[in-house]
Formats: sequence, C-alpha cells, structure tokens
Amino acid sequence: MLSVENQQSLQLNVKSLSPFGTLIEATEPQSDLKQLPIAQLRQLVWNYSLIVLRGFALFEREELSRYCQRWGELLTWNFGTVLDLVVHQNPENYLFTNGNVPFHWDGAFAKAVPSFLFFQCLKAPGRGSGGESLFCNTTRVLQNASPKQREVWQKIAITYSTQKVAHYGGKIMEALVSKHPITGVPTLRFAEPLNEDSVNLNPLFLEVSGLPPQQNNDKFLHELIASLYLPEHCFAHEWQEGDFLIADNHALLHGRHPFHSDSDRYLQRVHIL
Ligand SMILES: [Fe+2]
Repeated sequence: MLSVENQQSLQLNVKSLSPFGTLIEATEPQSDLKQLPIAQLRQLVWNYSLIVLRGFALFEREELSRYCQRWGELLTWNFGTVLDLVVHQNPENYLFTNGNVPFHWDGAFAKAVPSFLFFQCLKAPGRGSGGESLFCNTTRVLQNASPKQREVWQKIAITYSTQKVAHYGGKIMEALVSKHPITGVPTLRFAEPLNEDSVNLNPLFLEVSGLPPQQNNDKFLHELIASLYLPEHCFAHEWQEGDFLIADNHALLHGRHPFHSDSDRYLQRVHIL
C-alpha cells in the first residue's frame, strides 16, 4: 500500500477508520514523516478522503510550512501559512472558542479552494472532554440521498455571507452539487449556519436559490444538515498529541465538537492548494 524510502528504519501499521479514512501508524515513535513518499500519501487521501498519521515527530512551525510546500503551493493568509487553532482570550470568531464548529469547506472566501487540509496536533483534549474534528463524506451523502433529493439538490445554489472579522469573510455564491476536480466524483459544497449550540460570534448567513416553489427553505436545510450528521457519513477524529491528519477538502466537509473550557487543544493547520 505504501512503499517507504528507507524500509529499514520505518515500520508501519495501516488500518481502516470507520466509516471512512485510513490510519497509518509508525511502530517506532518519533519517526520521520519525510520518509513517506508524498505522491503516495496524496493518492491515499484521494482514495480514502482522509488519512491520520501517528507515531511521527511533529514539525516546528517553519518546518511544517516547508514540508507542506512539498505537497503543493500553500494558501497564504494574513497570518501566514500556519494557522494556530487555539482558544483566544477574547475571540471574535467561533473558531477560536471551545464551542462547536458547524460543517463547512475551507477557502470558500479565499482566492482558491485548497485541495488538502493538513493538521498537526500539538496538544489534544483529555479523553472524554470533546474537541473531536468531524468530517462528512459528501460523496456518500449524495449516494445515499433519494433520487428526488438529488434532483432538487442539483439545481440549488447558495449565497453565503459573513463579516470579515477573522481571516475570512465576504459574500459568495456556490452550487450545492459539485464535482471533485481530481477524482471526478460528485460532491457537496455546503456551509452550515451556526446552530443553537454554537457560540454566537461572527455568524454565517445563507440564502438558498433554486428550490422548487412548493419546497420550504427551512425544511430543505434541516433535511440536508440531518443527512450530513448521519453516523454512516461522519468520521469524528479524537485527537492524540502528535497526530497528523490530512483531509480532502473537495470531498469532505469538516467541523468540530465543542470541548471543555479547561481542556487544552492546540492544532496547527496548513492549506495546500
Ligand atoms: Fe475549517
């Protein structure tokens, strides 16, 4: 499945995650991630939508950025290429609280949508304190939708608007059903508004167009969102310190479970175009 550049020094265990994704674990702790061939890792992400790499040494910030550049061009934000996902003292956006993060794809308001989300986990919340990252496999959502739903969804476009308070914002319109630029499979592009459990900071507003006249806007959104969260469509990643996770941003939507306020959680994330 994965050939390693220096077989002697690196042994890997590979296992499937449920309901999708693959975990690649180095048996020797603090192994060097740079030994794994990027072309093969990239292919694994396209095949399985998400890979978790465990047992590898974390990167320093600059080193992380340099390593990710080997995957492809990076998206540069006002903070640079590496986003620190930590709780802020006085957050202006829900991302930087310990609250939930509704489903979305990254780069909606950027100049280009990243292909890969690359995370490393510097501090993980304690067991049972929440903070799992959630990933929704939108190809499966479409496969399991009824023919009627697919027909309706195909014609829908949604206008999203949010104030630029953090690093993103503006107003965009996106078709709900899209096609993966590499694999060609049908995917969904959708961002969920904040819900009653969210910290109400810097909300996202949605305007749906293309619904048949007899269909109710709220009912459509409710049905779609319920389907995203079905267990057969969702993988919840419980972080362990030292984890790397690489997700296909075209095939998946992602979000986060809330976590205890006294719980440490520190991820770094890079966008690879
Ligand atoms: Fe995100």
